[in-house]
Amino acid sequence: MAIPALYRSTVGKKAVMAVTGGILVLFLIAHMAGNLKVFLGASDFNHYAEWLRTVGEPLLPHRWLLSAMEVMLAASVILHMWSAVSLAWTARQARPVKYAAKKKSHASGYAVHTMRYGGVIIVLFLIWHLLDLTAGAVNPEGADATPFAKVVADFEPSRWYITTFYVSAVILVGLHLRHGIRSAFQTLGLASSRSYAAYDRLATTLSLLLVAGFLAVPIAVTFGWVR
Ligand code: HEM
Repeated sequence: MAIPALYRSTVGKKAVMAVTGGILVLFLIAHMAGNLKVFLGASDFNHYAEWLRTVGEPLLPHRWLLSAMEVMLAASVILHMWSAVSLAWTARQARPVKYAAKKKSHASGYAVHTMRYGGVIIVLFLIWHLLDLTAGAVNPEGADATPFAKVVADFEPSRWYITTFYVSAVILVGLHLRHGIRSAFQTLGLASSRSYAAYDRLATTLSLLLVAGFLAVPIAVTFGWVR
C-alpha cells in the first residue's frame, strides 16, 4: 500500500501514533536520565547541557543535536496529535449515535478522557516548560542563567505552585504513557491475550520509573537536597 493510502487507513494512523509515541518515549527516557545529573552538582549538570550544544564541533554546526531533536520532536508531537484527532473523528462518524450511558464501559471512558484532555494539558505544560527552562523567559533567573540555576530557582519552596504544576504534569505524562504503551503493543500486534498481562506490567513499570525519575528533581530541590 502506498504511504498516503496507508496513512489514510485506521491501522496506518494507529501505526503513526505508535511510532511517534515511541520516539517521544525514547526522548523522555533520555531526558529523565539527563535530569538526574542534577544530583552530581552544578558543574556536571551545566557541563552536560553545554555538551548537548557543542558535541561534534567543529565538524558539525553548533547545537546540531538539539536542533535535529527539536525538529523530530515537533514533527512527532504534531503527527501524534493529528492521528489521535483523526481517529477520534473516524470513530465518531462510524457511530453517530452515542452509546447509552449504562452501556459505556468505565475503563474506556476513563482512558479516552485521560488521553484526550491529558494530552492537551501535556502540550500546555510543554509550552510553559520551554518558555521556562529552555528560553528562560518565565524563569526567575532569566534567559542568561545556567540550566542548573534555572532548575534550582524553579523549585524553591516559595514557588510551590510551580512545583505542583510540574509534579501534576509529570504524573499526567505517566498516566498517558501507561495507556499509550499498552495500546501501542496491541496496535503492533504484540499483545496476544496470553502475553497481555506481561505487556501491561511492562507499560506500568516503565511509566512508574519515568515518573519517579522526573519527580526526583523538583522534590530534591524543594527539600534543599540539591542547591
Ligand atoms: C520535573 C521534570 C522536568 C525537569 C526538571 C526538566 C528540565 C529540563 C531542562 C533543564 C531543560 C533545558 C535543557 C537544556 O537547555 O539543555 C528541558 C528541556 C526540555 N524538556 Fe524538560 N524537564 C522536565 C520534564 C519534562 C517533561 C515531562 C517533558 C515532556 C513531556 C519535557 C520536555 C522537554 C523538552 C521537549 C525540552 C527541550 C529540548 C530541546 O531544547 O531541544 N520535560 N527540560
